[in-house]
Parts: sequence; structure tokens; C-alpha cells
Amino acid sequence: MDQSFVALKPGTLLAPVPAVMVSCARAGETPNIVTLAWVGTVNSDPPMCSISVRKERFSHGIIRDSGEFVINLCGQDQLRATDYCGVKSGRDEDKFAACGLTAVPVPGFAAPAIGECPVYLACRVQSIQELGSHDLFLGVIERVGVKPDMMDASGRIDYGKMRLFAYNHGNYYALGQALGFFGYSVAAPDVLERRMKELK
Ligand SMILES: Cc1cc2nc3c(=O)[nH]c(=O)nc-3n(C[C@H](O)[C@H](O)[C@H](O)COP(=O)(O)O)c2cc1C
Repeated sequence: MDQSFVALKPGTLLAPVPAVMVSCARAGETPNIVTLAWVGTVNSDPPMCSISVRKERFSHGIIRDSGEFVINLCGQDQLRATDYCGVKSGRDEDKFAACGLTAVPVPGFAAPAIGECPVYLACRVQSIQELGSHDLFLGVIERVGVKPDMMDASGRIDYGKMRLFAYNHGNYYALGQALGFFGYSVAAPDVLERRMKELK
């Protein structure tokens, strides 16, 4: 018997993952927010995301009927609301009002973006696949919005300003120290030095 690993029951141990607030609405109805961690980028061109939502969530029917959802990236200032929207249901209350969040219209979408969040990705549902516990919604990202104060002087997104956090098996963690960048392992010494300084 190989002793290199302890064999566990197959499970969803992938970590860390994002925790985002997804806003959704049927036209003319009060919008809702649901916190989701089973979220991913699944294609670059066209840009696409997936979300996995249990059928019993109030949001499930809204996203299915409207054919759209808006992923809102969450900074640490939105952490409390992110958790709250993941434990309370829109069946019982208006989570925008309960969390003091602002619904900002997204052109062409019934679902608003969350005005306090640094970035939104408005997605049109392309397909729904029943997986078992969750339904997988594949969405094409049709609109992206970034808060002006999250941009740097040269007009690029400054991710450091967003103070993003990650979700790791039941707990939320701040993203802290920058350790490297894409390709740093093979970067020329001068590039490595300059880029690492920029990251600090
Ligand atoms: C950090 C976190 C991540 C969650 N991820 C998911 C998820 O990926 N899929 C899901 O169906 N529910 C997830 N939930 C649970 C829903 O957010 C929760 O059941 C929520 O109250 C449903 O709201 P609704 O009934 O208004 O749709 C998560 C909750 C938290 C706190």
C-alpha cells in the first residue's frame, strides 16, 4: 500500500475559490443577491463564466427564468454582506435593503450590479446542466463594469485596491503578500526585479 497520501472519500477540496455576490432579477421584480463559491472562468473567447446553484435556492428560479446573472467581485468592505447574502434567502427579505447595498442598472439586463462592489460581470445564460446537487449555469460575459477608483493613473485595473478575499473551506481570507507573477520563474533578472518591486 502506497503511504505517500492519505486516501479520502472523493470531495470538493479544490481551494481557494472566490466567494462572489451574484445579483439576479426577473424584469419588474425586486432584485436578489446570492453568494456563490462554486464559480469559475471557463472560456476566454467568448469570455464565459460558470456558476453552480442548488435548485432549492430562491435565486435558481430567477436566473433560470431571466436567463441572466451578474457576478459582483467582493472586496473586504463587502465581506459581511457577502456572508449575509449566503445565509439569508431572498424569499424572506430584500437583501439589497438589508445590507444597505445599491442596485445599479446594467444596460440590457434586468439584474442590477451592486454599486459597492469593485467589478461586475454581467452574463447571459447559454446553457443549464443538471449535475446532481447543483445546476451548472454557463454564461457569456456581455458587460463588464469597474469602479473608477479601482483604476490606476494609466487606466489599468489596480487589483490591489480591490482588497479581494478568498474562500477556503468555510473561512474567508484576505489576499495578502504578492509572491510572483505569470512567467516569473523564467523572467530575465532585470524584469524580475522591476516587476517584483511593482507588486509590493
Ligand atoms: C461563502 C458561501 C458560498 C456559497 N456558495 C454557494 C454555491 O456555490 N452554490 C449554491 O447553490 N449556494 C451557495 N451558498 C449558499 C447560498 O448563498 C445560500 O443558500 C443563500 O441563502 C441562498 O439565497 P437565495 O435563497 O436568496 O437564493 C453559499 C453560501 C456562502 C456563505
